[in-house]
Amino acid sequence: MKRVAVLTSGGDAPGMNAALRAIVRAGVARGWTMVGVRHGYSGLTDADFVELGARDVGGIIQQGGTMLGSSRCLPMKTDAGQQQAVDTLARHDISSLIVIGGDGSQRGACALSRKGAQVVGVASTIDNDLYGSDVSIGATTAVDVALEAIDRLRTTASSHERAFLVEVMGRNCGYLGTIAGIAGGAEAIVIPEMQTDPEAIAAELRACRERGKRHAIVVVAEGATYNAERLSVYFREHGERLGFDLRVTRLGHVQRGGNPGAFDRMLATRLGVAAVDCVAEAAHGVMVGLLGGKVVATQLEEVVSRKSTLDPTLLSLARLLVQ
Ligand code: ADP
Ligand code: F6P
Repeated sequence: MKRVAVLTSGGDAPGMNAALRAIVRAGVARGWTMVGVRHGYSGLTDADFVELGARDVGGIIQQGGTMLGSSRCLPMKTDAGQQQAVDTLARHDISSLIVIGGDGSQRGACALSRKGAQVVGVASTIDNDLYGSDVSIGATTAVDVALEAIDRLRTTASSHERAFLVEVMGRNCGYLGTIAGIAGGAEAIVIPEMQTDPEAIAAELRACRERGKRHAIVVVAEGATYNAERLSVYFREHGERLGFDLRVTRLGHVQRGGNPGAFDRMLATRLGVAAVDCVAEAAHGVMVGLLGGKVVATQLEEVVSRKSTLDPTLLSLARLLVQ
């Protein structure tokens, strides 16, 4: 009987469990034996496997995190580690591997594919920095978490007529910052894709105050040159001249936790089933993602060699609405 393995890798994302559920059930429906790999690529090199039936993935569609566990596995970045992973798959008679994860995980998937393994990736990261998917599993829920925090901060910011810096995750990508900033009605957005001068931010905040705003929220992406720490140091050092007493909130891993929303559950389910379809059709060496509202499989070589870019119209939108 065909044996297909599935793992979750890198930063966990709300919806990974929903994807796992869809993959296991779609595989079982085809009569395959589904094998879960614990702890991402570490479990692959160590052969930490568990067979999964339809019932084993019951009751997880609504759960955040990943029931398989995840990891950052450094040996996978080496030729020897990748060879060990391919050999383990062969030794355990596993014909295909499905990798649920973000950019680094898909690089790992591509490396295994180059070594002859039959691999299909599923786009899943809160960073939404993957080429080949307009939106990846977990990003929408992470934005919602950031929004809830921003909404709460705004009330206290208004009461005290203060400015707040809210740092969101996203690694080197400004997607989370931009969307949370626009949807949260931020007064300024600082992201890696745009050079930002702290003096310009101070001027923006002053202008907001002069326009009668009682609060100011600056959403900062962690990957920006002036991230929350650097900005707050700058404002502290030049505090008197800039005229602002900034409070800083780093949302951190809170954004990765919690239950996936409806969009992520649906996306995970659609992508999970599509990954199984790819395996069934022997369409390996691809990653499934959502492009233009449709599920599309993109070559892993393309996914890892091309960069996802932020829609510039979103930034114009943000500038237009800060009034
Ligand atoms: P994410 O998948 O969320 O972007 P990471 O970048 O940490 O998270 O990658 C997850 C794992 O994928 C890494 O710990 C490593 O095992 C593997 N990986 C990352 N980059 C590569 C690479 N260039 N080649 C092979 N494997 C990689
Ligand atoms: O890739 C997801 C992510 O949450 C990034 O946004 C963040 O920079 C990183 O992972 C944090 O990694 P860790 O969980 O290892 O601290």
